[in-house]
Formats: sequence, structure tokens, C-alpha cells
Amino acid sequence: MCIELLVRKMFKFNFSDSKDEEEKTGNSKSKLNWLPALEIDVSSALIKRSHVINNYSVCTEFPGITLNYVSSKELLETLKLKNCYGIIEAESQHSDLVPAKYEGGLKIWECSYDLGKYIMEQCVPLENKLVLDLGCGAGIIGILALLKQAEVHFQDYNIEVIESFTVPNILLNVKDDVVKERCKFYSGDWEAFSQLYSNNSGRKYDIIFTSETIYNPDNHQKLYNVFKENLKKGGVAYIAGKIYYFGVGGCMRQFENLAKKDGIFKTDVVWKCEEGKVKSFNAFDKFFL
Ligand SMILES: C[S@@+](CC[C@H](N)C(=O)[O-])C[C@H]1O[C@@H](n2cnc3c(N)ncnc32)[C@H](O)[C@@H]1O
Repeated sequence: MCIELLVRKMFKFNFSDSKDEEEKTGNSKSKLNWLPALEIDVSSALIKRSHVINNYSVCTEFPGITLNYVSSKELLETLKLKNCYGIIEAESQHSDLVPAKYEGGLKIWECSYDLGKYIMEQCVPLENKLVLDLGCGAGIIGILALLKQAEVHFQDYNIEVIESFTVPNILLNVKDDVVKERCKFYSGDWEAFSQLYSNNSGRKYDIIFTSETIYNPDNHQKLYNVFKENLKKGGVAYIAGKIYYFGVGGCMRQFENLAKKDGIFKTDVVWKCEEGKVKSFNAFDKFFL
């Protein structure tokens, strides 16, 4: 089994300063209430609603594939209709996250593009694999896996992100049947998700992809536990992120060290940025006790 990391180097990032955020929201770390995990049933009504979307953007970043995704204007309208004012407020204040309330899933982050390109260029085998897009947001990585004939589970902290962004994005790129036959959706905190999934599913993942999810060091252990508990023997996890997240403090080395200390995974760098660029791509492999 192996886990691979994708890293962007030090880069100023517009996550709001966590101290300011605490003052603004009255959220201290000890008071954070993380949301429970849910499996989301994608109803025919949601599929129908998603088809009403006619304002979308086109992504041509991935070799050989053109992806469509819901434009932010359309997304904002949907969220207003659903009274998601907390999320709209966070986004409009350019606060990319409000810890334990909104975790940044309403846009496509840079490392998703890096990871997607890597998957396509390296021809990562996906056909008939069980794949988890962990902290999926737009779901771009999972959609690429669907187009490569994988079965894909999408997980995001916020149910609103799954319903208003992930599912409509999937439907802009694949047929409705694919959603019913090859997708599952989960919301909530990683700790609760891991428990829910391992208690109920009886299946483990061949591949777990996660992009831009290591920014908060307080969440590293539960993120790591998702791999530890749900990756199949012989499976691979890819972790894409920046080397350091200013303001929130998460860093790729710290996350890698957590895995190394635990001694279950072998880690390996699989991609590094060229001189002067702001990206690098690391990896670690899983090994057995
Ligand atoms: C910065 S966004 C990245 C979204 C997407 N992967 C991308 O690269 O565009 C971070 C994602 O991690 C997820 N996330 C962060 N903390 C989480 C937590 N404690 N439990 C579950 N999901 C979490 C959120 O759902 C959010 O979509």
C-alpha cells in the first residue's frame, strides 16, 4: 500500500488568520463542534434541479479532457435559495474557511489542478477501482476518476457543497446513471466519516485522493486516520498540498512525519517543482508492520 503527497511550496494564501477568525466567530479550538457524518442520498429531485444549471465554466487544464463546472455566479444563486448565508458570507469576505463551519469546498484549489494533471500524465490506473475523493469540494479529481471508469465516493465537510457544487459538477460531465451506479456521497467531519464508513461499508479504497486538506494541523490526525482505517492493502493515497499554509500553520512535512512516526506507511516523493516555481509533489508509500 502506498500514500503519495502532492505539495505546493510556501505560498501566501488567503485563508483568514485563525486568531482573527476566533475573535470574529467566537470559536475557540476547544469549543469547535465538528459536524457528524452522513451518507447523502442523491435524489431524483436533486438530479433534476442540477440539470437546471445553465451557467457553467470550462476547464481545459487536463490533457485530453475538458471538464465543465458550475460557475460561481450560478452557485451563489443556488446557495441563496437554500439560505446558506454563513457560507456566502465567508466566501464574500474572502475568508476561505470558518473552522468547523465551512471548510473551503466552494472553489477549485490550485493543487487539484496539479493532482489532476499528474493523474492524467502518469496514467494512474483507475478503471474498476474504488476511489475516494476526500475533501472533494468541486469534485474535479473524482470526476476525472469517473471518466476513467472508477467507482467514486465523494466526501466534503459541508452537505451544501456536495448538493450545490459537487453533484451538479458531476452531472455536467457524466450521464445521470453514473451518479446512481458508480457514486456515493458523504458529508461531515473526517473522524465521524471514518467511523461511519468503516462500520457500515465493509469495503476499503483502492485509491484515496485528497487535495489542499492539510492546512489545519489540528486535523492532521483524523485526516491520517481516514487513510489508516480505509485504505486497502496494496492501495495508494495521494495527498496534494502546499508545503506551508500561512495563517493556519499546516505543513506537508509535519503531516508526512505523522505518517512516518506511525510506521505503517512508507513515504516517497513522486513529483517536485522545478526551480523557481511554486509547486512540488511528494509521495509516501504504505508499508506493513
Ligand atoms: C481547501 S478545500 C479543498 C477542496 C478541493 N479538494 C480542492 O482542492 O479544490 C478543503 C476541503 O477539505 C474538507 N475538509 C476540511 N476539513 C475537514 C474536516 N475536518 N472534515 C471533513 N472534511 C474537511 C472540506 O470539505 C474542503 O472541501
